[in-house]
Amino acid sequence: MDFNLTEEHLMIQAAAREFAQNELLPGVIERDVNQVFPTEQVKKMGELGFMGMMVDPKYGGSGLDTISYVLAMAEISKVDASAAVIMSVNNSLVCWGLQEYGTEEQKEKYLKPLASGEIHGAFCLSEPEAGSDATSQKTTGIDMGDYFLVNGTKNWITNGGTASVYLVVVQTHAELKHKGINVLIMTKDMPGFTVGPKEHKMGIRSSDTHSLLFNDVKVPKENRLGPDGFGFKFAMKTLAGGRIGIASQALGIAAGAYDLALQYSKVRKAFGTEICNHQAIAFKLADMHVAIEAARFLCLKAAFDKDQYQNYDTSGAMAKLYASQVAMDTTIEAVQIHGGNGYVQEYHVERLMRDAKITQIYEGTSEIQKIVISRAIIHE
Ligand code: CAA
Ligand code: FAD
Repeated sequence: MDFNLTEEHLMIQAAAREFAQNELLPGVIERDVNQVFPTEQVKKMGELGFMGMMVDPKYGGSGLDTISYVLAMAEISKVDASAAVIMSVNNSLVCWGLQEYGTEEQKEKYLKPLASGEIHGAFCLSEPEAGSDATSQKTTGIDMGDYFLVNGTKNWITNGGTASVYLVVVQTHAELKHKGINVLIMTKDMPGFTVGPKEHKMGIRSSDTHSLLFNDVKVPKENRLGPDGFGFKFAMKTLAGGRIGIASQALGIAAGAYDLALQYSKVRKAFGTEICNHQAIAFKLADMHVAIEAARFLCLKAAFDKDQYQNYDTSGAMAKLYASQVAMDTTIEAVQIHGGNGYVQEYHVERLMRDAKITQIYEGTSEIQKIVISRAIIHE
């Protein structure tokens, strides 16, 4: 057992930290206020290899391990959780599945530009009537011989307006229920594909979230990803890894808020001393520090499991469940430590508090993580 990061891990962490400080921090408040997508910053993330971190270099990726991904995600999330979710969706939910289950043609055509960051992708599972209850897919993809005819609506799609490639979960054989689900690779230029209006969100406001509407979209047969009927398992397997990414986002949000609160508590004075000298504040800092360390270990353990080809469904769910709670608790206390300053934009912690909440909702709510974890421990 070795708790030390390798030289390579430390280099990646430092590169992500430097990028976040130099490229993401300037303008992060304005992008949040105005819901502006970080186009230039995402381009630079691609150039630095952050958009396809675990993809084989022969397909345009960086060929790194999941631990590197966790470290980079956490550093970026400390500063800009919106940029982090754009990165997480592209890495975990889009590139991973294409690399794992795509044909050579699909990898050449879609994975290469996605992994190199030339374009980015979206993962489309949720629907108005199928969120947590993901098997209840209503979007249909009727087999028409040489194409699927797709009709339906997807909800809450991250990168929905800016993506070039969409992995869309559709019901192709309703009578087979979840065993009749498939995933199709779709592009915005397909006739009948409409992007709905942008959602106005509480947090991660500079990431774009849209519903997508499909009206008789013809999707070529060769765009099916994986074997026939594999779509639901594909989505579950994809989300198992995605949850490690969101756990790392939550870890980063918590760590970013903690760093700011610690610094602030050392300079802000009340009753003749720096507020960190008041035990009530010092104990908050101690609680935050312990919880963040525990979240960090859960994230790294899940990443380690994935890198060792061990099952990471449960460890990923545990990391997400715990880290997202820590993100929420820590950001609330970071606002408290900042007093009135915590309630205004310039001090960043109010944004981090708003950003934290989504980590308990997307890629499976906390209640869903408990279903995954409890089923695993009961059946072990
Ligand atoms: N790996 C492989 N297969 C899996 C699996 C996994 N991790 N989890 C489930 N399956 C398989 C099961 O084995 C089963 O297959 P068989 O019938 O062949 O045995 C099938 O999937 C159905 O499984 P369940 O019976 O367990 O299904 P369920 O209806 O009870 O639902 C659930 C399980 C875990 C609750 C699932 O519906 C779920 O994860 N819901 C949450 C959905 C979610 O996370 N959405 C996120 C959308 S993406 C997103 O949010 C991105 C973003 O914000 C940035
Ligand atoms: P519901 O499923 O209606 O849940 C409502 C409440 O009931 C929750 O508290 C839930 O935990 C609880 N609940 C439901 N079932 C159970 C149960 N069996 N036991 C206990 N409690 C239960 N989806 C995508 O496919 N792609 C994306 O890119 C994407 N990005 C998103 C970005 C944002 C900003 C948001 C808000 C959502 C995004 N989502 C995305 C959707 C997200 O994954 C869903 O919102 C989430 O899975 C919850 O589904 P729901 O909103 O339908 O809530």
